[in-house]
Amino acid sequence: MGKFTFIFLLFTLFSSHFVASSLGKKQSDVLGQFYKAKQKKFSSISKSYFKAALENVELDKVILPQDGLKEKDWINKLPGQPPVKFQQYGGYVTVNESAGRALYYYFTEAENSKSLPLLLWLNGGPGCSSIAYGAMEELGPFRVNIDGKTLHRNHYAWNVAANVLFLESPAGVGFSYTNMSRDLNTTGDRRTANDNVVFLLNWLERFPEYMNRDFYISGESYAGHYVPQLAHAILHHNKLANRTLINLKGIIIGNAVINDDTDTIGNYEFFASHALISDQTYLDIKKYCYEDNYNENKCNEAAEITNNNLKNLDIYNIYSPLCKDENLTKYPKILSPWQFDPCSDNYIFTYLNRRDVQDALHANVTNIKYEWTSCSNPLFYNWQDSPKTIIPLLKESLANGVRVWVFSGDTDGRVPVTSSKRSIQAMNLTVDQPWRYWLNGGEVGGYVETYKGGLTFATVRGAGHEVPSYQPARALSLISHFLSDTLPPGPHY
Ligand SMILES: *[C@@H]1O[C@H](CO)[C@@H](O)[C@H](O)[C@H]1NC(C)=O
Ligand SMILES: *[C@@H]1O[C@H](CO)[C@@H](O)[C@H](O)[C@H]1NC(C)=O
Ligand SMILES: *[C@@H]1O[C@H](CO)[C@@H](O)[C@H](O)[C@H]1NC(C)=O
Ligand SMILES: *[C@@H]1O[C@H](CO)[C@@H](O)[C@H](O)[C@H]1NC(C)=O
Ligand SMILES: *[C@@H]1O[C@H](CO)[C@@H](O)[C@H](O)[C@H]1NC(C)=O
Ligand SMILES: *[C@@H]1O[C@H](CO)[C@@H](O)[C@H](O)[C@H]1NC(C)=O
Ligand SMILES: *[C@@H]1O[C@H](CO)[C@@H](O)[C@H](O)[C@H]1NC(C)=O
Repeated sequence: MGKFTFIFLLFTLFSSHFVASSLGKKQSDVLGQFYKAKQKKFSSISKSYFKAALENVELDKVILPQDGLKEKDWINKLPGQPPVKFQQYGGYVTVNESAGRALYYYFTEAENSKSLPLLLWLNGGPGCSSIAYGAMEELGPFRVNIDGKTLHRNHYAWNVAANVLFLESPAGVGFSYTNMSRDLNTTGDRRTANDNVVFLLNWLERFPEYMNRDFYISGESYAGHYVPQLAHAILHHNKLANRTLINLKGIIIGNAVINDDTDTIGNYEFFASHALISDQTYLDIKKYCYEDNYNENKCNEAAEITNNNLKNLDIYNIYSPLCKDENLTKYPKILSPWQFDPCSDNYIFTYLNRRDVQDALHANVTNIKYEWTSCSNPLFYNWQDSPKTIIPLLKESLANGVRVWVFSGDTDGRVPVTSSKRSIQAMNLTVDQPWRYWLNGGEVGGYVETYKGGLTFATVRGAGHEVPSYQPARALSLISHFLSDTLPPGPHY
């Protein structure tokens, strides 16, 4: 099969109407625009394979003293927060002294913190906030109410299964900042991985009780790049130091950008198989958009038809209602507990821009010049490097005994399940335990297949791009099984 030619107007469709919101972009729309920039004929984004850049970093120069900082980072209580029994911390870690780059983290300990592993969560974009999405509307302990002032508990928060660390990365995202504004125009995958590993080394110094703890990295969407790249950087530094600096055990990525060619054609396969475009349009895309048989006019025509068919629907959860009223109210909306409120982004935007909230989080201590947004635009306009595939890094993790799970919410049209299936196929792995359903609460939670070498692929039935938002119980079950290295229960053959 030939390579997909990305010259046509492929991803313009994703800037559909709900981006118009003044309250910051959705991470999925950012990803769409990023793809477009990356796939332009003369794109300046480097697509070469990824190698850790900090080849000979001197650890004693990048690891700074952290005494007393943990205590200062302790969060007594967030405004409007219901009482809880676990501890929370938030604060900055300097990752580059000369440039003045500092990354913001929010840490939700488990109630029985000592017996549970440490789990890092990263959102994608590139440029989207792990506090906005991960912490506040996906797997964190609280969700923001419609008043933009108070919080309610998420009873499926992942900090029942692990001590969960949310990191805003790279600098320029959310509350993470740099004092050298040029940094915002020169960041990319490599800088992100390097800064994140320096963050972790310093954070472990600040929280030494987690130094030898089993460590896992999780993330979604464009974090399909960040997570394996950070794993790569950790393996590299452990090797250089000839000791375990960070006790990496596994990585898990959801609806993840893995391999550009398969990710792209998988989109159209999903649209056709979910009756969003006609089979004919799909066939035209396959026929006319490949190098072998490329026909610019016909390819663009089919892409245009696709764009038109996808208007007025939420591409990152094709069965979800849209946010119709962005206004906040004093009165709570009545939603069933498993129903995700599509206007959540707006409540979070209001909440995180409040001074009392920022003070409680120990965020924005330097009075950043711009307001907090869920996704930061300047970053991805000038993104420096983004390899076409991260398959070699997934293979590297597997070869080093790092567990790899890939999961997929099966109603996402942004990085859909068909893309993930094709990307895994492209790895040429051998099936170990064949495709079967998995159960949660007596229902099918999704499907799972494992491969020789340590990779597991699991779908989550009825979940969109942000899996824990739409299927919180299934997502919690999946992460618990990942952490305990077991498969969720299924049929007995
Ligand atoms: C700090 O960041 C700058 C770019 O802003 C880079 O040139 C420099 O090498 C970095 N220093 C370290 C120690 O990584
Ligand atoms: C950035 O600049 C502010 C104001 O000068 C300073 O307080 C802060 O420590 C600097 N940040 C870093 C990471 O050096
Ligand atoms: C960053 O790039 C944008 C264009 O994408 C430009 O407008 C801006 O001035 C640049 N900022 C710096 C500090 O170079
Ligand atoms: C790495 O550490 C091991 C055991 O601590 C030691 O035997 C070995 O010589 C070290 N290798 C290098 C290259 O320093
Ligand atoms: C939201 O508030 C604005 C300003 O108060 C008002 O004009 C608008 O009608 C409201 N929107 C809805 C859907 O109620
Ligand atoms: C930081 O604080 C300043 C001043 O209080 C505010 O104007 C700005 O919007 C805030 N920025 C962020 C990113 O929180
Ligand atoms: C998978 O196999 C195909 C066909 O043999 C080959 O072209 C491709 O490079 C292989 N991919 C990987 C990741 O090994």
